[in-house]
Amino acid sequence: MAGGFVSQTPGVRNYNYKLTPKVFVTCFIGAFGGLIFGYDLGISGGVTQMEPFLEEFFPYVHKKMKNAHENEYCRFDSQLLTLFTSSLYLAALISSLFASTITRVFGRKWSMFLGGLTFFIGSAFNGFAQNIAMLLIGRILLGFGVGFANQSVPVYLSEMAPPNLRGAFNNGFQVAIIFGIVVATIINYFTAQMKGNIGWRISLGLACVPAMMIMIGALVLPDTPNSLIERGFTEDAKKMLQSIRGISEVDEEFQDLIDASEESKQVKHPWKNIMLPRYRPQLIMTCFIPFFQQLTGINVITFYAPVLFQTLGFGSKASLLSAMVTGIIELLCTFVSVFTVDRFGRRVLFLQGGIQMLISQIAIGVMIGVKFGTVGTGNIGKTDANLIVALICIYVAGFAWSWGPLGWLVPSEISPLEIRSAAQAINVAVNMFFTFLVAQLFLTMLCHMKFGLFFFFAVFVFIMTIFIYLMLPETKNVPIEEMNRVWKAHWFWGRFIPDEAVGVSAAEMQQKSV
Ligand code: BGC
Repeated sequence: MAGGFVSQTPGVRNYNYKLTPKVFVTCFIGAFGGLIFGYDLGISGGVTQMEPFLEEFFPYVHKKMKNAHENEYCRFDSQLLTLFTSSLYLAALISSLFASTITRVFGRKWSMFLGGLTFFIGSAFNGFAQNIAMLLIGRILLGFGVGFANQSVPVYLSEMAPPNLRGAFNNGFQVAIIFGIVVATIINYFTAQMKGNIGWRISLGLACVPAMMIMIGALVLPDTPNSLIERGFTEDAKKMLQSIRGISEVDEEFQDLIDASEESKQVKHPWKNIMLPRYRPQLIMTCFIPFFQQLTGINVITFYAPVLFQTLGFGSKASLLSAMVTGIIELLCTFVSVFTVDRFGRRVLFLQGGIQMLISQIAIGVMIGVKFGTVGTGNIGKTDANLIVALICIYVAGFAWSWGPLGWLVPSEISPLEIRSAAQAINVAVNMFFTFLVAQLFLTMLCHMKFGLFFFFAVFVFIMTIFIYLMLPETKNVPIEEMNRVWKAHWFWGRFIPDEAVGVSAAEMQQKSV
């Protein structure tokens, strides 16, 4: 398939390219990076429900759970246990800050490799854990791995992909995350039925498989043309661009990469520079998009779906099964984004998905409120419980084609080269921090806010939908090194971008787009 594209943003260029097997294969392998994050997201919730695991490491929590006669909202509230889940995200937060330098100085692929390696060692610590210390060291190493991978993979995919299919290729990361979650949930389903300590050991130890996949993948992957130029390998970069675009005539795109790199060389301190007014839109977006993504409340479902379903009165096996169903729905619905994000654009998906999540969250809150009230006692009938599961699926579907993939895509594609690694580090760090907070606080919040928790997240979904409507310009089809023009054309952000940053006449920019 040959092709240029018609851009809707004034002054943005078209490049020619062919869709080559090479770009498919490299992005497919690159996307493996999402597997380790997904596997961990999916495995922790189930493992912390396994009795042998609790008896071994958290006997107090185990005893408390067995004797719980409290109200439904507070059945599983334990800070210590949630710290096991959430500690990983603090480690990921810290490592993403180092990872940004490695990604910039040594290239994207070595960050991915390091991510796989530390995750691999972490999985061994966890699988063979004899005491809490081993368990925690393992968690921290896993977190380092996730930080490195999440820092480098989205940027890698965005740089490799042809501009007008960047959304679809980048969404491969989210597909891999959800695939990891689903596989982990299925593994937990079986290991939870095993007697003794073997079940949780298998669940935690098998994290070595996605770790090996990303390690081997990173070794065979080439680096992106952008990163090769950034590190002075100009000739190699041109050859790489020709081979991934499938044509020898890549001069225009290549020149844009060179220009972007020249400009980025003026910037010695990406961390200091990202604070300059001209990078204000990127700074705000890389802080707010991950913040909002977590405040959708999605990880309440990811981590605690089994707990939530038990709270609704399902047996523990049925709960794990329902968690599997929501995971599979999320996976399927992520493909909706893969196939539409470059056609309809990011904004349409963000807005539609936001409205869908808002409505379903309010409905879930109302139903749980009516059934359990504020006291948290009561019984929920089968039909009502099934209705709530259906509403959860509708909510998850909305997330799957909006904030899930776009929360990683948009921050990775909006920054010029000189601040890209720093911006992605902020994105990962903010994301991990709020993943940590939600994981850590959810059970306490459920205990205190009760069904109001769903309204709490609904309020944020409402705010973020308005935020996108007003503040995010459409970025579909825009070459990644041309993104400044999009900001310049935006009604609000335009004032922060100096004319020389876009190299076009001010008259051209008069035609503003959203
Ligand atoms: C989010 C995670 C979430 C996952 C699955 C990702 O995009 O960053 O926090 O658990 O999607 O829903």
